[in-house]
Amino acid sequence: MSDFCKVPEKFQWFRDAKYGVFIHWGPYARYERGEQVLFREHLNQREYEENARQWNPKNFDADAWADVFARAGFQYACLTTRHHDGYCLWNTKTTDYNSMVQTAGRDLVREYTEAVRKRGLRVGLYYSWCDWRQPVYYEGPGKNPEGFEKVKRMIWEQLDELMTNYGKIDYLFFDGTWPRYGDEIGTEEIVAHIRTLQPDILINNRLGFRGNQEEIDKFGGLEDEGDFGTPEQNVFPQDRMWESCQTSTWRWWGYTKNERYKSSDEILKLLCESVSKGGNMILNVGPKPDGTLPEEFTERALAVGKWLNTYGEAIYGTDGGDLTEFATCGYQTMKGNNLYLIFSIWNGSPVLRLPDMTSRAAEAVLMGRKERLTVEQKGTTLYIGGLPEDAGEPLFPVIKIQFAERPGTTSWGKERQWQGDPMRIARWARGEETGNF
Ligand code: GLC
Repeated sequence: MSDFCKVPEKFQWFRDAKYGVFIHWGPYARYERGEQVLFREHLNQREYEENARQWNPKNFDADAWADVFARAGFQYACLTTRHHDGYCLWNTKTTDYNSMVQTAGRDLVREYTEAVRKRGLRVGLYYSWCDWRQPVYYEGPGKNPEGFEKVKRMIWEQLDELMTNYGKIDYLFFDGTWPRYGDEIGTEEIVAHIRTLQPDILINNRLGFRGNQEEIDKFGGLEDEGDFGTPEQNVFPQDRMWESCQTSTWRWWGYTKNERYKSSDEILKLLCESVSKGGNMILNVGPKPDGTLPEEFTERALAVGKWLNTYGEAIYGTDGGDLTEFATCGYQTMKGNNLYLIFSIWNGSPVLRLPDMTSRAAEAVLMGRKERLTVEQKGTTLYIGGLPEDAGEPLFPVIKIQFAERPGTTSWGKERQWQGDPMRIARWARGEETGNF
């Protein structure tokens, strides 16, 4: 999506941030089999609870996390304050099933919020509406109105604490309304209350409005819920702010022993794809039970961070840029009059041919290198010459092209093979469309 939709000034930081880190952490890490082990393996609730109470992440050092996050180039972070198991990572008065009162003896949310804020990242919290320990939640208000009121009150009070006791919270990620709807839980009232406590907060779209499942599957919630969309494990652009939620592993969000990790180029590809389509990506990590980050994650995140150090200009603050056909080489982003070509495939050809351009290019550089590239325009085709066979970049090389104006394209650039006018394609197939060659 190259056309930029307007967002309120207070949310511009999110539009520009592009890259966040999601942290799924809780006592489930002790099981080393993902965040949903309690339900997925139908464990005994009492035994899980006992185990959770004994969780003691003694090597958790929030500053060490924040240091890795900052060096990795993340602009915001989001920690699970309570996942579906109901265990709270903060000092809550609503239940003793929390990290302050139990063995951990620490307010993990406080340590986290202070550390990431200090390192200049925006502060986000995740909260699960559902709690697997509460059968009443699943039975619903019809069956047990009084019990359900209690569940609602607990949600209200917990969010009130989180929004009051931890300074400015920039971002809130709700999850897991199923099988309840927002009108049953009162998500609209809760959101209104939260906005009085944190006027600038961004709230995601998982608010349980009644709507069509297809939209929920695609966008992670309804298109008009909350402030931004959260497509999960896919990159699905929307006509508003959105972030693609991606695991750094193959499957689970919570720590999983011997899980497979996505490689740094896969992570970078997902980031570039999201950004080129006008969105953000939030990359997940599941810290270990002792509180340290898995080495596999740190290594890959820092490799991407190193890349961002050189090429960050092509990512942060850009406004998408799927400008013209570039699928055979990689991704594009735009900022002002600049077009950035991000090569997930560097084919070694000395000349790059960019079709369908209506704007004049002034100059082009291979970012991170000194040599100027040559720029030549013939009709609507732009030729960039002087490219080295080896771009000297193990991840994705980037060419920055400066134009005299905001770059634009012909209809061939705007409408690709599958969405253009079929008659035009027919003329081209007959050799009648010559303007582009
Ligand atoms: C899914 C998972 C949940 C995870 C969430 C993150 O809803 O079920 O465990 O927290 O995605 O977006």
